[in-house]
Amino acid sequence: MQMSKVDPQLSIETRTGLPEEWKFLLENYPRDSWSSHSNLGEHTRFWLSIHRHFRMMGSHLVAQSEDYREGRVDGTQFRTQMAPRLQQFLQTLDHHHRIEDGVFFPNFMAAEKRLIKGIELLEEDHHVIDAEVHTMVRVANALLQTRDDDHDGLKRAGEDFATSSVRIVGLLDRHLNDEEEIVVPLMLDRGEIELMSN
Ligand SMILES: [Fe+2]
Ligand SMILES: [Fe+2]
Repeated sequence: MQMSKVDPQLSIETRTGLPEEWKFLLENYPRDSWSSHSNLGEHTRFWLSIHRHFRMMGSHLVAQSEDYREGRVDGTQFRTQMAPRLQQFLQTLDHHHRIEDGVFFPNFMAAEKRLIKGIELLEEDHHVIDAEVHTMVRVANALLQTRDDDHDGLKRAGEDFATSSVRIVGLLDRHLNDEEEIVVPLMLDRGEIELMSN
């Protein structure tokens, strides 16, 4: 098992934001200035749009599982709607993490030594999110494999799926927010072409 290099107090499970020591660029490039900044390039805009997509997909998943839990949709309808949406969500998330871990983060660490620890924290977040993805796949498969006439089994599997959906959305919310507050100020400060061609 890989040992975490991250301060346990900064765990994605418990932290409420980035520590001050990694906000020195954010202070110069606050969130409300990003969209109108002349250095905001198309790659950064696209990357932010993927994050918006994850937030939207996550809230749909939670809403769907709550509709099922509250009895507003039946088990068959829920499973039919959930499966393709979940598959697309998890595949896109996996692809996104691979690009960040393999391309973005090494470039960022090389460009700004003062943010190495912050970027390691983002990598660690990916491990925690990926572990929850595995849980989500397991509970989704259990739900899909439960017989239509097994009402107790469907209820249990629906509860497990709803719990996992809420958890992954909470993890993603924390991660996406903190990742944006490290990455976007760096992109704006250095320029995305210069930063990505290190
Ligand atoms: Fe990420
Ligand atoms: Fe990301």
